[in-house]
Amino acid sequence: MWKALMLAVITVLLLLLEGGTSTGIRTRRDLAPPLHSRGIRDPYGSYCQRRGGCCPGRNDQCTVPYMDTICYCDLFCNRTVADCCPDFWNHCLGTTPPPNLHSCERNGHRFHPGATYKENCNLCTCGPNGSWECEHHACLIDVDMIQEINGRDYGWKAANYSQFWGMTLDEGLRYRLGTQRPSRTIMNMNEMQMNMNGNDYMPSHFNAAEKWPGKIHEPLDQGNCNASWAFSTAAVASDRISIQSMGHMTPQLSPQNLISCDTRHQDGCAGGRIDGAWWYLRRRGVVTEDCYPFSPPQQTPAEAARCMMQSRAVGRGKRQATAHCPNSHRYENEIYQSTPPYRLSSNDKEIMKEIMDNGPVQAIMEVHEDFFVYKSGIYKHTNVNYHKSPQYRKHATHSVRITGWGEDRDYSGRTHKYWIAANSWGKNWGENGYFRIARGENECEIETFVIGVWGRINMEDMHGHHHHHGRRQVKQ
Ligand SMILES: *[C@@H]1O[C@H](CO)[C@@H](O)[C@H](O)[C@H]1NC(C)=O
Ligand SMILES: *[C@@H]1O[C@H](CO)[C@@H](O)[C@H](O)[C@H]1NC(C)=O
Ligand SMILES: *[C@@H]1O[C@H](CO)[C@@H](O)[C@H](O)[C@H]1NC(C)=O
Repeated sequence: MWKALMLAVITVLLLLLEGGTSTGIRTRRDLAPPLHSRGIRDPYGSYCQRRGGCCPGRNDQCTVPYMDTICYCDLFCNRTVADCCPDFWNHCLGTTPPPNLHSCERNGHRFHPGATYKENCNLCTCGPNGSWECEHHACLIDVDMIQEINGRDYGWKAANYSQFWGMTLDEGLRYRLGTQRPSRTIMNMNEMQMNMNGNDYMPSHFNAAEKWPGKIHEPLDQGNCNASWAFSTAAVASDRISIQSMGHMTPQLSPQNLISCDTRHQDGCAGGRIDGAWWYLRRRGVVTEDCYPFSPPQQTPAEAARCMMQSRAVGRGKRQATAHCPNSHRYENEIYQSTPPYRLSSNDKEIMKEIMDNGPVQAIMEVHEDFFVYKSGIYKHTNVNYHKSPQYRKHATHSVRITGWGEDRDYSGRTHKYWIAANSWGKNWGENGYFRIARGENECEIETFVIGVWGRINMEDMHGHHHHHGRRQVKQ
C-alpha cells in the first residue's frame, strides 16, 4: 500500500521535472549565448552519436548533456551555428564544422583558444585570433634531416628513435652526453711511446668481442643522465679487468657508483671528467652494476643521488666495500680497482695495436646533431643542415669505448676504414648499441684523446688461473 503510493508520488514528481526542464530549454535556447562562440570544447566527444541519432527540422527535445549545459542534434541548430553538439556536423551532416574566427582547426577538428598540442619537440597553442602558434626549437629527431641522409649516399643510414622523439637538440646535447673536454694540462699529457716495429701485423678487421668472447661488455643506456664520463670509463675498465684476469673476473662495473660517489670536481648526471673517473677507479674502486644498479634520473635537470657505496683500505693497496649492495638482492660487493690510465697517440695504427694487444680503449668525440639519428653504416658528420640557422648545427663532447676496426669497399672500389665503438644509448640505438665511424681521419675528433688502462690484477687474484694457452706477455 505505502509502496504503491510512494511510486505514484515519484512518478508525478518525475513528470513535473521533465515538463519543467523542457520549458526551461525553450526559453534558454532562445536567450542562451551561442555554445561555440569560444570554439568547440571536447571536439572529439560523441554526443549526437551517443544520443542515437539526429532530428529533422527544429526539435527542442533533441538534446544531449554537454559540459555544464546541453547541446542540440536537430537541423535547426545548424541555422544558428550556436548550440550544435561538437559531433553534429560530422555525425548528422557528414561534413566538418564551419570555420570559426576564434577557434583553431587541426585534423578536421576545432579547438578553443588556449588548447595545445605537441609537434615533436615544439608546443603549439591555439592563439586568441584562432591560429596555432608554435615554438621553433630544433628537435633532436629532425624528420627532414633523416630523409635527407637516407636519400643520399653518405655511407650510413638514419632512423627515428622513440626515446629521442619530443626532445629538443639542446636537450639531447645537455642530457645524453656529459663528458667535459679534458683540460689543457690533461690534453698535453705525454702520449705513451709505443714501439711499433714495421712488421707488426695488423689485420684489416678486428673485433675485441671475437678475440675475447665473454669479456667485452654490452653497451648500457645512460638515459637522460649527462654522464658518459662515468659510462665510458666503467665500460673500458670492465673489459680490461676481464681481459687481464683472463675471464677469472668479468665484472660489469657500476657507472652509478662513479656518478654518486666520485663527486670531487664531478657533477654526476650533470657532467664530469674522465681523468677524475680514472683517479677514482684507481684509488677508491667501484663495485659491479649488479651490486649498484643504474637508476636514471626521473627529472631533468637531475637531482644528485646520495652515495651508497664507498671503499676503505685493507692493506697492500686493496680496498673493501663499506656497505652492502644498495639493492634488495644480496650481490657480491667486491671492489674493483684499475691501474693508472695512459694516453695513446692519435696515430690510428698505435690505437689499433693497443686495442689488439690490451683491449678496448676510451675516446672522447664531438657529437653533432646528425649523430643522434645514426642507425647503421660508417658514420661521418654530414653537415646536411649547413643551410639552416646555427641552432640546427651544434655539437658537444661525449666519450665512448672503441672495441675494434675494419674496412668496407664500396661499389666504386673505394676503401672506407672505420672504428667499431660502443655508445651508451642502449642496445636499440645504432648497430646493437655500437656504431662504426670513419678511421684515420680524426672524424669528430675521435682520435684526439684516447685512453688505455690495465686492470689491476695481483698475484692472489691470478693464483690458480695460470693458463699458458693464449697468455699474453704484459710489458710495462
Ligand atoms: C594571430 O596573432 C598572431 C600574434 O599573436 C600573429 O602573429 C598572426 O599573424 C595572427 N594571425 C591572424 C590570422 O591574424
Ligand atoms: C618517431 O617515433 C615517434 C615515437 O615512436 C613517433 O611518435 C613519431 O611519429 C615518429 N616519427 C616519424 C616521422 O616517423
Ligand atoms: C653536461 O655535461 C657537460 C660536460 O661536463 C657540461 O658542460 C654540461 O653543462 C652538462 N649539461 C647539463 C645540463 O648539466
